[in-house]
Amino acid sequence: MVKDIECFAVKHGVYHCEGVPLTHLAKAVGTPAYIYSQSALEANCAGLIRAFAGYPTLPCFAVKAMSNLTLLRHIFGAGFGADLVSGGELQRSLLAGARPDQIVFSGVGKQSEEIDQALAAGILMFNVESPYELDLIATLAGQRGLRAAISLRVNPNIDAKTNAKIATGLYSTKFGLPEAALPPLLDRIGRDPRLELVGIGCHIGSQIVDIQPLRDAARQMVQLAGHLHQQGHKLRYLDLGGGLGIRYDQEVPPSFSDYADALIKEVRPSGLHLIIEPGRALVGNTAILLTKVLGVKTTPERHFVIVDAAMNDLIRPTLYGSYHEICPVVASERGEEVLCDFVGPICETGDFLAKERRMQLPAGGDLMFLRSCGAYGASMASQYNSRPRAPEVLVSGTSHQIVRRRETPAALWADELV
Ligand code: LLP
Repeated sequence: MVKDIECFAVKHGVYHCEGVPLTHLAKAVGTPAYIYSQSALEANCAGLIRAFAGYPTLPCFAVKAMSNLTLLRHIFGAGFGADLVSGGELQRSLLAGARPDQIVFSGVGKQSEEIDQALAAGILMFNVESPYELDLIATLAGQRGLRAAISLRVNPNIDAKTNAKIATGLYSTKFGLPEAALPPLLDRIGRDPRLELVGIGCHIGSQIVDIQPLRDAARQMVQLAGHLHQQGHKLRYLDLGGGLGIRYDQEVPPSFSDYADALIKEVRPSGLHLIIEPGRALVGNTAILLTKVLGVKTTPERHFVIVDAAMNDLIRPTLYGSYHEICPVVASERGEEVLCDFVGPICETGDFLAKERRMQLPAGGDLMFLRSCGAYGASMASQYNSRPRAPEVLVSGTSHQIVRRRETPAALWADELV
């Protein structure tokens, strides 16, 4: 995994993305804007593929983490399949060149049209996680005269030791099937010519920095696959989901090779083809959110730095309490360090991007940027407060390309009927 530090670094007193000064990008595309480094993305893609080279593995990028078509095209071009959770993500992925036979369709609430589109496209498999889904998939596959490939998503009841909102491997969450619920489903699949069991899998959560729960989940799945094999079920795939964390602050996540070695060690004896669904680990550190200071105000309690990016652009800080490092684009000497809250223009106290950061007080017009915004940044952006969504820019060497233009105000109401 590259450190974003390497692709977003200070040269001659100004932060650059690769060879392009962020000051230049702010002039060219305005602010706020998401800026991605192509070499960071390429290094991550190659690094992850290299880490798993010693074992048959299909890495399926979790499209929800970052869904820009141009960047997806790079990711699929580098040898990744796709992990999807909606018909929209299916269409996006096909448009961006994903191979249908490298697509897995996950998700807790797949709808008929989405399932039907996926069947028509010929995807690799459905990760089924509710009993009712099987009936729906069987009916739709039957209508098309197809046999749908099914992988059962198991809930291993493992604590991923991450934020509760993104932990998915416990019985207290809506995800997956408890092992005890499998026998009737296996029976059902075995008797239905419209369904074919091809795998099992799990996904225990996101931003996991402790390798142990990932290892435990792999071990549990391999054991289960062994039992199923003994019962005569011929599995081909073991899908261990995504979840590998990145460094936002002081975390020390496992490297790609530590992650790969741990999973492969568990999976190798099964002989099953490994599937992983990385999202954040591939793109998290490939982008920043560039923003401009509108002004500063001070209350008896603190300094508020009001910037032009807001919770609609990056919802992670207020939704999960997550930390994104914030840095001035141009370093300047402005005296003492003070405690600053970075807030946006949205009319909610929850609209903040960074809290209680000790730094020199910025001034109106200064450019700042938030690090590690490549995953669940732009893909979770909204238009709240009728704010057009920010553009996405891809930098390669000394050139940049706008890969999503700034939304126009007219696009905000284009679908409204008056
Ligand atoms: N596979 C499945 C079935 C998932 O539900 C997810 C993420 C992934 C793979 C990819 O996980 P990753 O490798 O990115 O950790 N919005 C939150 C994260 C939500 C994750 C949802 N599922 C955030 O900003 O932290």
